[in-house]
Amino acid sequence: MRIDALLLTFAAAFASINAQAQAPAPIVVKFSHVVASDTPKGKAAQRFKELAEAATKGRVRVEIYPNSQLYKDKEELEALQLGAVQMLAPSLAKFGPLGVREFEVFDLPYIFPSKDALYRVTEGPIGRDLLKKLGAKGITGLAFWDNGFKVMSANRPLRVPADFKGLKMRIQPSKVLDVQMRALGANPQALAFGDVYQALQAGVVDGTENPPSNFYTQKMHEVQRHLTVSNHGYLGYAVIVNRKFWEGLPGGIRSDLERAMKEATAYANAIAQKENDDAIDAVRKSGRTSIYYLSDQEKAEWRKVLAPIQKDMEGRIGRDLIAAVNREAAAAGK
Ligand code: LMR
Repeated sequence: MRIDALLLTFAAAFASINAQAQAPAPIVVKFSHVVASDTPKGKAAQRFKELAEAATKGRVRVEIYPNSQLYKDKEELEALQLGAVQMLAPSLAKFGPLGVREFEVFDLPYIFPSKDALYRVTEGPIGRDLLKKLGAKGITGLAFWDNGFKVMSANRPLRVPADFKGLKMRIQPSKVLDVQMRALGANPQALAFGDVYQALQAGVVDGTENPPSNFYTQKMHEVQRHLTVSNHGYLGYAVIVNRKFWEGLPGGIRSDLERAMKEATAYANAIAQKENDDAIDAVRKSGRTSIYYLSDQEKAEWRKVLAPIQKDMEGRIGRDLIAAVNREAAAAGK
């Protein structure tokens, strides 16, 4: 190599090392969640990471920790408040223990007759007001991500409410879900999501409820012989961040992340239904769990037992909020 070419190579290498030394360290967003990567939430988290890192040209690095790898349900909320992680997407049934009971409106049986009704709430003023309530807890709510309507499972067929009698059913830590299981004649037991498979396997609980995507990706079909497509209730997420962290971000970065979140939210909501339909097919193909669809008469029996919970929970959730959600549902049509 000629001497001037050699000098040029040295100069370029030096400039690159110098630039690296001067580039600010990336802002790290640790995004912890409790489900598998190949679920609606797992995939949307990954999409957010890609969009956020591209939009900020690498100034933000999003690290995803799926499957309760870092924290289980309760601990992840504590970790977020302490700033040990920056972003989570807990299910809406997990905000009661934090003191934000209004989120339990989403757990009320049959409150959403359709996804249209749901989106009118999550994408409208009711959703915005709900997210604002998290501010007092040091949390900023960014978005709602859909998962889907829930199925019930156990090792015996669940066709009518009488079939639940005496079953120990795993629930998320929501008073509404506790009341729901009791109304069906079951004994509810709140457990962290990461413990459900083992609890079912060991017989600590007999059954559970979740959208099919969670059921299948946690391999619950290996330990549950019967699944009923009951669609009796809803499960979705609030994507939340540590408020101090969020407000401390440079303005340009924050708006890049807001745009990335908007796109990731549209993606989450677009894939949720298909992911759950595919999961039901996968459970069927496994041959381990028989899948049952309720007849119209059986649906009516479930409704008769579960519908009064809306009224019973007015004191806890707020009568006006329940009425406002029901108005949106009516406006969406059945
Ligand atoms: C559960 O705990 O059953 C689910 O909410 C887990 C999740 O985040 O989807």
